[in-house]
Amino acid sequence: MTTTLIAGGTILSASGRTAGDVLIDGETIAAVLAPGQAEAIGIAPVRTIDATGKYVLPGGVDVHTHMELPFGGTFASDTFETGTTAAAWGGVTTIVDFAVQRTGERVQDGLADWHSKADGNCAIDYGFHMIIGGVDDDALKAMTYLVDNEGVTSFKLFMAYPGVFYSDDGQILRAMQNAGESGAMIMMHAENGIAIDVLVAQALARGETDPKYHAFTRPAELEGEATNRAIQLARVAGNVPLYVVHMSASEALQELAEARHRGQNVFGETCPQYLYLSIEDQLARPGFEGAKWVCSTPLRSKHEHHRADLWKGLRMDELAVVSTDHCPFCMKEQKELGLGDFSKIPNGIGGVEHRMELIYQGVVTGELSLERWVETCCTTPARLFGLYPTKGVIAPGADADILVWDPNGRTKIGVNDKHHMNMDHSAYEGFEVDGKVDTVLSRGAVVVENDTFTGTKGHGRYLKRGLSQSLV
Ligand code: URP
Ligand code: ZN
Ligand code: ZN
Repeated sequence: MTTTLIAGGTILSASGRTAGDVLIDGETIAAVLAPGQAEAIGIAPVRTIDATGKYVLPGGVDVHTHMELPFGGTFASDTFETGTTAAAWGGVTTIVDFAVQRTGERVQDGLADWHSKADGNCAIDYGFHMIIGGVDDDALKAMTYLVDNEGVTSFKLFMAYPGVFYSDDGQILRAMQNAGESGAMIMMHAENGIAIDVLVAQALARGETDPKYHAFTRPAELEGEATNRAIQLARVAGNVPLYVVHMSASEALQELAEARHRGQNVFGETCPQYLYLSIEDQLARPGFEGAKWVCSTPLRSKHEHHRADLWKGLRMDELAVVSTDHCPFCMKEQKELGLGDFSKIPNGIGGVEHRMELIYQGVVTGELSLERWVETCCTTPARLFGLYPTKGVIAPGADADILVWDPNGRTKIGVNDKHHMNMDHSAYEGFEVDGKVDTVLSRGAVVVENDTFTGTKGHGRYLKRGLSQSLV
């Protein structure tokens, strides 16, 4: 077995920071040692990575990605190869992507389809959630089967997108009751899709076709309402674990915080786009440019309280996780499908490469502690989705998935700067942030160093996940 020592750095965890060296044996972490201890006890590693002046933290865990998702009349533009390679460039060593079942399709077929897309193509490890787009008796049985046999322990339902992935309240309740029996997590896209469709039709009838109307027809109140409804349904189903995805509105966060305060098993996720981007600065740009930022839930106004509340929610543990909801579409031939009709713009923003960088900037600006950066981007996602302690922590026995981070570096994001996703634009074009990905290891293999990708397609393995470890 090859031994590697990451020496001289400051090791970060969700609970603290300490000077120390990480000893890796093959694919796993063998020991966390005091500085210099390896030499004192006669360990001569094959390779030493000098982390002096740097942070050493668990590789990022992004539990919300959509590689190759068929959506909006096209497919998300990153394949598992390009998307996981970009993830590695961003210090991410695990993704959990969404396999898809639609009405009339077998859940197992959707899962098999996702395995065939990912198998042999990933640069880092990956797991799957399952989108259940057609809740019926067969789908419910299949959910239990997936939990027991396939390592798929979380299921996404949609209160939005009628006619595509939408579930009504009865279907949601049945799926939640099923999850209550199997121990699975229900993930919810919480927006009132029926009311949104009315507002969209009315806007289009008035000739309001520009990208910004995407946000105006998905008001924060309808995110808050749906979040509350999902919470109440989960409560009625027996305090079933509920994870609300891509939260963007203060109104929704308020509902989540109240439920958590009551002791309900409910968790929230937000994404960098909701912490940094807005209607005014991005979505409402002249002409069709705003299409780059059409996503759901939508970007919100910078003149309201959403962004400040989301950062506070992350600090206060009202929000548990930052993921990316990586769902990239190029402008050319993809976003362009919505020229003249915002409702036809494929929904999604690509960002799997930039989450660690953008949330570290929140550390620099005083929004989060270093520990909370690690907790929300690495440790809690692993715990919530049954991957801990193999992933999300630097400890003996864990996979040697490690990010060496240079706090003195700088990262300039943009298509001619740092940009490895398969997209013809960057949602964060021109952003320049403190800190830089220095070295990335996936199960002991160096996949990024010296500004070079050194990983391989096919190195990434499918992760059969256990049940969530964050429940009482
Ligand atoms: O706009 C988004 N979020 N696209 C991806 C699908 C989803 O709802 O997560
Ligand atoms: Zn969604
Ligand atoms: Zn998504």
